[in-house]
Amino acid sequence: MENFNFYAPTSIHFGKGEIKELTKIISEIGKNVLLVYGGGSIKVNGIYDEVYRLLPDSDFTITELAGVEPNPRIDTVRKGAALCHENNIDVVLAVGGGSTIDCSKAIAAAYYYEGDPWDFTQDRSLVQKALPLVTVLTMAATGSEMNMGSVLTNPETNEKLSTGGVAMIPRASILDPEYTYTVSKWQTAAGSADITSHLLESYFSQNTEAVVQDRMAEGIMKTVIKYAPIALAEPNNYEARSNLMWSSSLALNGLTRAGKKGTWSCHAIEHELSAYYDITHGIGLAIITPRWMLHVLNDQTVTKFVEYAENVWGIDSNGKDAFDVAKEGIQALYDAFVSWGIPMTLPEVGIDKEKIRLMSEKAIEHSTLATTAYVPLTADDVEEILLNCF
Ligand code: NZQ
Ligand code: ZN
Repeated sequence: MENFNFYAPTSIHFGKGEIKELTKIISEIGKNVLLVYGGGSIKVNGIYDEVYRLLPDSDFTITELAGVEPNPRIDTVRKGAALCHENNIDVVLAVGGGSTIDCSKAIAAAYYYEGDPWDFTQDRSLVQKALPLVTVLTMAATGSEMNMGSVLTNPETNEKLSTGGVAMIPRASILDPEYTYTVSKWQTAAGSADITSHLLESYFSQNTEAVVQDRMAEGIMKTVIKYAPIALAEPNNYEARSNLMWSSSLALNGLTRAGKKGTWSCHAIEHELSAYYDITHGIGLAIITPRWMLHVLNDQTVTKFVEYAENVWGIDSNGKDAFDVAKEGIQALYDAFVSWGIPMTLPEVGIDKEKIRLMSEKAIEHSTLATTAYVPLTADDVEEILLNCF
C-alpha cells in the first residue's frame, strides 16, 4: 500500500429532516450568505422555500446565484466571485448536485485569488484559501459534498478540467435522501453509474496490496447494483435513496482511493466528451467503462478482473478460463447499465465520429493517462476505445 493522508473533515448531517441543522451551521459562520443553485429544481421540490424559512431575513442576508449549469461554466464562477465581493459574503451555501457544489467550491476559492479562477485548473497550488462552504446535496453522484475536487468547463476552449484543494472541502453537508426523490430516472441512472465509476477507477490500480480499500469498494458497488434499480422503479423508496446517497459520499471521499495510485482512465476520457458535447457525466462514463475494461484486459490484468467478477457479480470461476470469467464480469456491468435505461452508444447521446481523434489526443494532453494509468494509454488506444462505443 502507498503512504497516504486521509482527511475528510466535512461534518455530515444525514437523514430525513436534517435540514433543520442549517440555521445553526450557518449562524456559527456568518450572516451574509451566497446561495448557489442550478436550473430551478430546488424551487419545484420545495428545498428553496425551506432554506429561506431556516435563514430568515431578520437574521441573515441572502444573495443568490442561480442557474449553475450541469458541467458548470467558468463564467458562472467569475459571476459568483464578484457577488461575494459586492455583498461581503461570509459563507457560500450550495444547494444542488455536483455541478452546483463544484461551482461553489471554485467561487469560494476565487474570492481570495486575484487572478482568473480558470488558473485553478492549470495549477492546483493556487487554491490556497476559500470562503467556508456548506452544501445541501440534492442528488447522489459525485461525492463533491465530501471531497476537495471541483470540475469546471470552459466552453470557449472546449476544456473540462478538474482542480481542487483542501481549502475547498465543504465544512458541512446536509444529506437528506428525501431530497433526491425528484431526481429524474436519467439522472438517477447517471449518478449511480458515476458512483460505480469512482469505485472502479481506484479498484483497478497497480497497487495490489490495498485489500481493505477493495473490499469496501466491492461492498459499495454491490449496494449501488442493488439499489439503483429500486430507486428507478420507486423514486420515493427511502431505503434505496439513502443507500445511494451515502454510497455517493463514501465512493469519493478518499476512503477507497487511499493508498492506491494511478490516473483515472474513464474520467479522463469522459471529460473530453462532456467538454465537446456537453453530455451528462455519468452517462458518458457508463458508455466508456465496459469498452475500456475490454481494452485493458490482458495477461497482467486478468486476475483483477476475475476478482471483480467473482466478488461484485458473484460469478463462479470454478473450472472456467480466466478471460471468460473476466468478460462475464464486464458483460454484467454493461447489462446493468442497460437495465438502468442508459443508452450505451455514443451516437445515442449525439456524438458522431468527427471529433473522436481530436478528443483522444486531448484526453492524453489533459491527463497523465499515457504514463500513470492502470494500463497506460496512447491517443490510439483512446481512439479505439471510443470507436468501440459506436
Ligand atoms: O440544475 P437543477 O435544476 O438543480 O437540476 C439538476 C441538473 O439538471 C438536476 N437535479 C439535481 N438534484 C435534483 C435534480 N432534479 C430534480 N430533483 C433533484 N433533487 O440534475 C441535473 C444534474 O445535476 P448535476 O449537479 O450536474 O449532477 P451531478 O451531481 O452528477 O454533477 C455532475 C458534475 O460533477 C462533476 C461532473 O464532471 C459534472 O460536471 N464531477 C465532480 C466530481 C467531484 N467534485 O468530485 C467528481 C465527478 O467525477 C465529476 O467529474
Ligand atoms: Zn465522476
